[in-house]
Amino acid sequence: MVFELRNIFKDYLQGREAVPVLKDITLSVDEGEYVAIMGPSGSGKSTLMNIIGCLDKQTRGDFIFDGANIGRCSDKQLSDIRNRKIGFVFQNFNLLPRQSALENVELPLLYAGVSKRKRRELAKEALRTVGLEDRMNFKPTQLSGGQKQRVAIARAIVNKPKLLLADEPTGALDTKSGDDVMELFEELNRDGVTIVMITHEPEIADHAGRIMYIRDGELHKGAFNSRIKNNELSEQEEQQ
Ligand SMILES: Nc1ncnc2c1ncn2[C@@H]1O[C@H](COP(=O)(O)OP(=O)(O)OP(=O)(O)O)[C@@H](O)[C@H]1O
Ligand SMILES: [Mg+2]
Repeated sequence: MVFELRNIFKDYLQGREAVPVLKDITLSVDEGEYVAIMGPSGSGKSTLMNIIGCLDKQTRGDFIFDGANIGRCSDKQLSDIRNRKIGFVFQNFNLLPRQSALENVELPLLYAGVSKRKRRELAKEALRTVGLEDRMNFKPTQLSGGQKQRVAIARAIVNKPKLLLADEPTGALDTKSGDDVMELFEELNRDGVTIVMITHEPEIADHAGRIMYIRDGELHKGAFNSRIKNNELSEQEEQQ
C-alpha cells in the first residue's frame, strides 16, 4: 500500500468558526494503482491533494504514507517525505522561469543531495522519458504549455517517487497537449508508477483505473474503470 486515509476531517477556520471542508474521508491506494479524484469546484479536491501530498495536515483522522503516520511526523520528516517519495504535477506547471528545463528537472535531486554529475544524468534521462531531450536547454517561456507540463512531469518523476500526485494536470492545456499528458501518465503507470490525479473532466478521469468522486467534502466510490482488464483490480472489486 502507498497510503491510507482513515476517517480524515479537515476544517478551515473562518474567523472563530470551523468550516468543515473534508468530512470523514477513507481511502487507500495500492502500489501501481492509477486513481482519479473528481468533483465540482469547491468540493475539496485540492484540500485533499494537499493532505495526501503532506503539504497540509488534517484536522482529525489518520493519514499513513508509506508506513509512516504523517500526523506524528515533524516538519523536517514531512519535507523529507515530500522530496523523496512524492512527485507533484500542478495545473500551472510551477516551473522556475529563469532556469532551463534541465535545471528545473534537476531541482528535486539538488534538494536530495545528489551529486552534480548524477543530477545531470538523471535529469536528462527523465527528459528523455517525456520526449523533451531536444529542449533541455530551453527556458519555460520558450516552451509550449504541453511542453512545460512535460518538463514538470520529468521533474516529478526524476527521483523515482512512490507516488505521482497531479492536481488538474491538463487544466491549462489544449485537448491535444492534454491527450499527450494522459498518454504519458498511462506509460508511467504501466511502468509501475502509482498515480493519483485530480480532475473535474470526465474524459480525463476516464484514463485512470479507478475513479472516486468528492462532493461537499465527502468521498464516494466510483466504479472501477471498465477499460482496465487487470485481474488484481477485478478481484478487489468483487471483494467490495
Ligand atoms: N486556506 C483556506 N481557508 C479557508 N477556506 C479554504 C481554504 N482553502 C480552501 N478553502 C475552502 O475549502 C473548500 C474546498 O476548496 P478546494 O480548494 O479544496 O476545492 P477544489 O475542489 O480544489 O476546487 P477547484 O475545482 O475550484 O480547484 C472551498 O469552499 C474553499 O473556500
Ligand atoms: Mg482545486
